[in-house]
Amino acid sequence: MAVERTLSILKPDATRRNLTGRINAALEAAGLRIVAQRRIWLSTAEAEAFYGEHKARGFFRDLVSFMTSGPVVVQVLEAEGAVARNREVMGATNPANAAEGTIRKLFAESIEANSVHGSDGPESAAREISFFFAAVDIVG
Ligand code: CMP
Repeated sequence: MAVERTLSILKPDATRRNLTGRINAALEAAGLRIVAQRRIWLSTAEAEAFYGEHKARGFFRDLVSFMTSGPVVVQVLEAEGAVARNREVMGATNPANAAEGTIRKLFAESIEANSVHGSDGPESAAREISFFFAAVDIVG
């Protein structure tokens, strides 16, 4: 399997509870290398643009409001099969359905405040990485 990259976001519920180190440790233990990382506070326009594919969903306004409620940590993760590997260590979107030992099972508060975001495929990974990072920011 090829070495690939995926975008990860540690969400406001994670930064608020001082969980960034514990989540990073879980990502690294799963073999994901953090090759770029920045702590930012998303504007409403940025959150709307990032989550544009969900615009028609009933939860869109709440999602944007939550994602702008505090700082987030945006990261690029690198590994063989990074997209799938990150999705596995994150666990299901709804923590009620997340497997034991996954980040969302361990830390998520709800389907909205679910601690982490990860790209859902190689194309979205490329788009999401370029949303936050220039090539020179990524040090593999
Ligand atoms: P994320 O991987 O960041 O992508 C979109 C987010 O919308 C998702 O994680 C959830 O945190 C959030 N969300 C809120 N409500 C729902 C819902 N009913 N179904 C799916 N995602 C939801």
